Amino acid sequence: MGTTTGPAFTFAAPGRLVFGAGRSAELPDLVAEFGVRPLVVTGSNPSRHAELLASLGDPAVATVKGEPTLGAVRQAVDAARTAEADVVVGVGGGAVLDTAKAVAGLAASESDPLDHLEVVGLGLPLPPVVLPWIGVPTTAGTGSEMTNNAVVTSLEHGVKASIRGRSLLAEVALVDPLLTLECPPAVTASSGLDALTQCLEAYVTHQANPLTDGFCREGLRRAASGLRRAYADGSDVSARTDMALCAALSGLALANAKLGAVHGFAGPLGGMIGAAHGTICASLLPSATRVNVAALTARGDGTALARYTEAAEIITGRGDVAALLAWLDETNELLGVPGLADLGLTEDRLDEAVAKGQASSSMKGNPITLTEDELQQILRAALD
Ligand SMILES: NC(=O)c1ccc[n+]([C@@H]2O[C@H](COP(=O)([O-])OP(=O)(O)OC[C@H]3O[C@@H](n4cnc5c(N)ncnc54)[C@H](O)[C@@H]3O)[C@@H](O)[C@H]2O)c1
Repeated sequence: MGTTTGPAFTFAAPGRLVFGAGRSAELPDLVAEFGVRPLVVTGSNPSRHAELLASLGDPAVATVKGEPTLGAVRQAVDAARTAEADVVVGVGGGAVLDTAKAVAGLAASESDPLDHLEVVGLGLPLPPVVLPWIGVPTTAGTGSEMTNNAVVTSLEHGVKASIRGRSLLAEVALVDPLLTLECPPAVTASSGLDALTQCLEAYVTHQANPLTDGFCREGLRRAASGLRRAYADGSDVSARTDMALCAALSGLALANAKLGAVHGFAGPLGGMIGAAHGTICASLLPSATRVNVAALTARGDGTALARYTEAAEIITGRGDVAALLAWLDETNELLGVPGLADLGLTEDRLDEAVAKGQASSSMKGNPITLTEDELQQILRAALD
């Protein structure tokens, strides 16, 4: 008699998700649960969140400008050690949250970030003692408050790589859509399209599981409802709430499934051309989806194609992949997403990008193994 085995998977998430408009007011109480000497990591303009920071008294503050480099992480770790911080709070976009996460992982030991960085560092396991951290996103994009990795740029190697470990999961992800109301349209577009990409890639990957599927479906639904509206009117709380939820769900999904070709390229390209992560993802999404669909069709892989069809139904109301592709093109047009050439990618670097993309871990989550030629097609179509 045959037996059927059900799905087998592991699911990991932060200790708690506190979600809702206005809920950042709960930050002082949440911090007090974990420590008395917080270090707040925030962006280069701390006055943007002056009220929230003041609600914590007079905390030690470390600021991050741009993408987190090894140098920036070292500085923030030093700040935490000097302040003898016992809890870390990240208030900002994904760059800030990743820095806060790395600080939480390293500050309680003698470790240097390079000891634990994958790919170009030693990739050692994290120290046994880490600090608790609370993630408070102010963009709706990366879902970094939900994941167990901190993406760090090594300028020396021209590469973005992760410090990763289960102990990097936040104690609390505090997601308040009101904190994203001031995001300018370009940040709303790039971070929102990053969240949408994460939901779509984690939905079509062969490493999806029933929990991530549920998160992706809801995330896609929220992106379809909120992305264009949040871009058109940043003060639209309902649209901002849709996108904050989409981002949080996308983080849960990517951390427990896999991503695909867009993120396979986005990591290496971020190191090569230094453009913002979300913008790179946004510019790649339509062409990567188009090439994936063509490859799946040509090679007769119906399983992932069915996933794209479901995504089309969720986003456009039409169970037709062509409608999804048209919606993605139109959205990039409406949201003014630049091409990769405008972001600094030149034709003579396409081979390098393909080689680096093929070696990236996200590429392994793509629903189909793409040929070098197909990978080139994705980049070429995304150039302008
Ligand atoms: N760890 C993960 O799971 C994960 C996943 C995806 C991406 N990432 C990383 O996240 C980073 C990208 O994060 P991001 O897209 O949020 O961009 P970001 O953190 O670089 O922020 C983009 C810009 O928006 C500004 N900003 C942030 N909040 C604002 C607000 N409320 N109002 C006005 N301006 C605001 C920032 O100062 C910055 O100039 C990259 O470094 C990427 O590698 C991490």
